[in-house]
Formats: sequence, structure tokens, C-alpha cells
Amino acid sequence: MTDAVEQIQGLADELAGVGYISSEDVATVVYLGDALGKPVLVEGPPGVGKTELARALADVVDRELIRLQCYEGLDEGRALYEWKYGKQLLYTQLLRDRLGSLLADSDSLDDAVRRLDTLGGGFFSEPFLEARPLLQALRSERGAVLLIDEVDKSDPEFEAFLLEFLADYQVTIPELGTIGAVHAPMVFLTSNGSRELSEALKRRCLHLHIPYPDRALEERILAQRVPGMGETLRAEVVAFVHGLRVLDLRKRPAISETLDWARTLLLLQADRLDTELVQRTLNVLLKFQDDVETATPRLRELQAGARS
Ligand SMILES: Nc1ncnc2c1ncn2[C@@H]1O[C@H](COP(=O)(O)OP(=O)(O)O)[C@@H](O)[C@H]1O
Ligand SMILES: [Mg+2]
Repeated sequence: MTDAVEQIQGLADELAGVGYISSEDVATVVYLGDALGKPVLVEGPPGVGKTELARALADVVDRELIRLQCYEGLDEGRALYEWKYGKQLLYTQLLRDRLGSLLADSDSLDDAVRRLDTLGGGFFSEPFLEARPLLQALRSERGAVLLIDEVDKSDPEFEAFLLEFLADYQVTIPELGTIGAVHAPMVFLTSNGSRELSEALKRRCLHLHIPYPDRALEERILAQRVPGMGETLRAEVVAFVHGLRVLDLRKRPAISETLDWARTLLLLQADRLDTELVQRTLNVLLKFQDDVETATPRLRELQAGARS
């Protein structure tokens, strides 16, 4: 047990070394995912570091990061592989004359088709294959970190296909046969929770929920990412953002907004928060006019709270 605890701490340190500050929960699940060879499904609101986690881990383990960004309508062709139709067509045209002479002495249409069929195999071979992220991950020599990002944006049919892929990390291409993983990839899936994922997919993965960070963690992230900021202002910034997150907002500010705001304040050479400064820069934190209106009457109180 102590061994595992040490390794988890070691992983957290290594992640910090590449700029990612992880909570104990995060480091534990990532460690277990690797140790058990299971995909990790990372859920949480936008902007809390889900995508960045996979990037940071790829850095730590020194493996290639391969990212599949999901969207509505994403299909196997885009995710796995496609035949390079344009190239096939171009080659057919370039070869037309030669085909003409090859087929010239066929005595029937059937015969010509049969001859074409034996020649046609060449068009469904490696040079005409366009590997997309899932296939790239299987073929990666050293084993990739595969990030299947924002899987909640894909359609349920695609999710079912993913489940199959994750079950055995192999792909059958009818013209080429079955391709298995050279090295099983380390897989991360992320979801912003815009829809519920299937039970089956959840079962296949280790689950990691990343909530908004507590104050101490967010201050550490801020210190890491915006090192030029003094300690006092940093604490005020984080306290203020935490005050905003309690309000009833359409879009709560996430870590990304805290970082943007901190950079803005640095540019404006602020060393403490004051109400006027907050008011002027609020649009960096809140992206909806509704939210600005909700927050405005509370600014003085939030800012005073953050200073104490
Ligand atoms: N734990 C963390 N340590 C360092 N930076 C972080 C952390 N969490 C988030 N960030 C930063 O916050 C921003 C948003 O992170 P991102 O991974 O894009 O969020 P998500 O994928 O959850 O929407 C990025 O700029 C990232 O560098
Ligand atoms: Mg993301």
C-alpha cells in the first residue's frame, strides 16, 4: 500500500513538473488507470483541466499524444480510417492508358471486370489508407496516449462503436485484415456532461470527476501558470472567483477564466483588487450578459470578502 501511495505522490510530482497541478483524486485515478490498463473517463464542467490532464500525462510518460475531438456526426471514417478516394481516382486516371491496353484483348465484359478486380487490390493497400486518430494510436510504435475528447458531443451510435474499440484495441479493415495495437494505448475520454453516457461505456472505464478546485488547489494552479503574480493578489483573485461560483450563473467561471483574469490583472499592473478594477474586467470571467447582471449588485460584497 505504502508503495502505491508513494507512486501516486511520485506521479503527482511528475505532473507538477510539466505544469499540471493535480489533486490526490486525480493522481490516484490516473495511476490506477495505468496500473490496471483501463481507460479513464474524465467528467466535469468545461475548463477544469480535463484535456490538459491527458496532455500533461503524455509529457510525463514521454509518449505521443493522439487526440480525437468528438462532435455531432463524427463517424468511423473520421475516427478510424478512410480510403484516400481522391488519390485512388487520380491514379485510376493516370493509369487509364495502361488499363486500356491491359483490357484491350479481354473478350467479354465479365473478363474485363475479372481482370480489373485482380488489379484493383492495389488501390486498397497501405499507400491509399488514411489513418485517423484511433488507428494511429494502435500503430504507434511506443504506445500513445489517446485522448478521446468531449465524447458527450458524439452520437450514441459512435459511442457504441467506441466501446467495441476499447474492448480489444483492434480494428478489422476488410481489405487488409485485422490490425491490433503494437502497444495498448493509455486512453482518456473526457465529457462535459452535456448528455449522459451509456452505462456500458462507464463500466469499461475508471471514472474521474474533476470538480472546480478548492481554493488551495486553485492558488497552486495559478502560481504555476501565472508565476508573475504576487501572493496577496493571487489569494484575492481565487477567493473572488470562488465567491462568483456560488452565484446562480449560466456559466460559472472555470480555471481557464481564473487564469485569463489573472493575466489581465497583471497586464493592468494591479496589485490588489478594487471594485472598479473588477467591474472593468468582469467580462473576462463572465461570458453571458445575464451573468454580468446577476453578479454586478454583488461585486462590492464579493470583493470585500476576497480582501479579508
Ligand atoms: N490542474 C491544473 N494544473 C494546471 N493548469 C490547469 C489545471 N487545470 C486546468 N488548467 C488550465 O486551465 C485551462 C483549461 O483546461 P482544459 O484542460 O482545457 O479544460 P477542460 O478540458 O476541462 O475544458 C488550460 O489552460 C489548462 O492549462
Ligand atoms: Mg477540454
